[in-house]
Amino acid sequence: MKALVYQGERDVAVREVPDARIEEPTDVLIKVTATSICGSDLHMYEGRTDVEPGTVFGHENLGEVVEVGDAVVRIRAGDRVCIPFNIACGFCRNCDRGLTGSCLTVSPGMDGGAYGYTGMGPYRGGQAELLRVPFGDVNCLKLPEDSIERELDYVMLADIWPTGYHATQLAGLEPGDSIVIYGAGPVGLMAAYSATLLGAANVMVVDRLPDRLALVEKIGATPVDDSAADPVEQVMDLTRGAGADRGCECVGWQAHDPDGTEHPNQTMNRLVGSVRATGGIGVVGVFVPEDPGAPDRLAREGQIAFDLGAFFQKSLHMASGQAHVKRYNRQLRDLIAADRARPSFLVSHQLPLNEAPQAYRHFDDRDRGWTKVVLRP
Ligand SMILES: NC(=O)c1ccc[n+]([C@@H]2O[C@H](COP(=O)([O-])OP(=O)(O)OC[C@H]3O[C@@H](n4cnc5c(N)ncnc54)[C@H](O)[C@@H]3O)[C@@H](O)[C@H]2O)c1
Ligand SMILES: [Zn+2]
Ligand SMILES: [Zn+2]
Repeated sequence: MKALVYQGERDVAVREVPDARIEEPTDVLIKVTATSICGSDLHMYEGRTDVEPGTVFGHENLGEVVEVGDAVVRIRAGDRVCIPFNIACGFCRNCDRGLTGSCLTVSPGMDGGAYGYTGMGPYRGGQAELLRVPFGDVNCLKLPEDSIERELDYVMLADIWPTGYHATQLAGLEPGDSIVIYGAGPVGLMAAYSATLLGAANVMVVDRLPDRLALVEKIGATPVDDSAADPVEQVMDLTRGAGADRGCECVGWQAHDPDGTEHPNQTMNRLVGSVRATGGIGVVGVFVPEDPGAPDRLAREGQIAFDLGAFFQKSLHMASGQAHVKRYNRQLRDLIAADRARPSFLVSHQLPLNEAPQAYRHFDDRDRGWTKVVLRP
């Protein structure tokens, strides 16, 4: 089968690899019909992780079931399914509590597994013609009859919509709250969209890329351009000096100035500055336990200089981590099916798998208009 393979820093290619196949009786095999490129893939693409050359990327997958293992009971060939990026067993201590992003079974020695991602187990990704889905009964979300016509909406259920939603839940968002979101990439946009659906009174999103800020405005949220003025002061002005009730981190450790200089603590400390006393912060942007190539000593060891004093003084709370996609994906699917949500508003490009290398280049350069790419193998 054809698959998108990592070859080295900023070097990916579509190559022939052995077909994915059923390996365990609990597996499901799908023919991938839509798979998107994620900001998380870019950390690997940019050579900022220890990902091995030869890795097949792709954790935002949707497709048609072609074969099921002997022990699969709920899923049948022909079903159209969307696959959470987390691989979960469904029966371990964490899965049992709905914390499927921290499954204890699928990557022994680690908490949590995913497709095509370094440090998340041996599973190949779905930027390919076929994908093996372990524990298929647990991990396949069945899609309704409009799954072909609404494919661009449903593929957002694999990762970024549940992840954006998770950020609002980690922050403790309630109807009527104000919320500031750092990052207007796909995840930040989905956090803003979720906050709007959940009844936030005031949704502010900080970034500097004009095309992404335009999408913020399009969904009825307030764009905050941090290349124009200090974003913390802008949030204070927008909340009459109070600060936002809630804040979300949707950038991660590669946070940078508009000129590209990285400051891994920038968004975290700006969140502490822009959230009001007793408010909450949800962190879904990725922070890594080590970053050997980082310019400063703290960052190399996965640490940041965090404004803990201000955090404490304001009695803030904070939660972080991988989104537990399965906790949200059914309900969010049903919002699409009921015509109450259209998360595909951020998809800018649909391309055949062959064009994935160019798509990676444009998305990585944050080229104007490249907000989200869906590949169609
Ligand atoms: N926790 C999870 O389960 C999960 C799932 C998916 C993605 N992620 C992570 O979420 C993060 C965002 O993903 P994405 O797909 O939206 O990525 P992206 O790279 O497309 O978007 C990041 C955005 O942040 C902006 N940005 C950079 N520095 C900034 C700063 N200092 N202040 C404000 N904005 C700044 C960039 O201009 C860009 O628009 C990544 O770290 C990704 O790995 C986490
Ligand atoms: Zn993703
Ligand atoms: Zn588990």
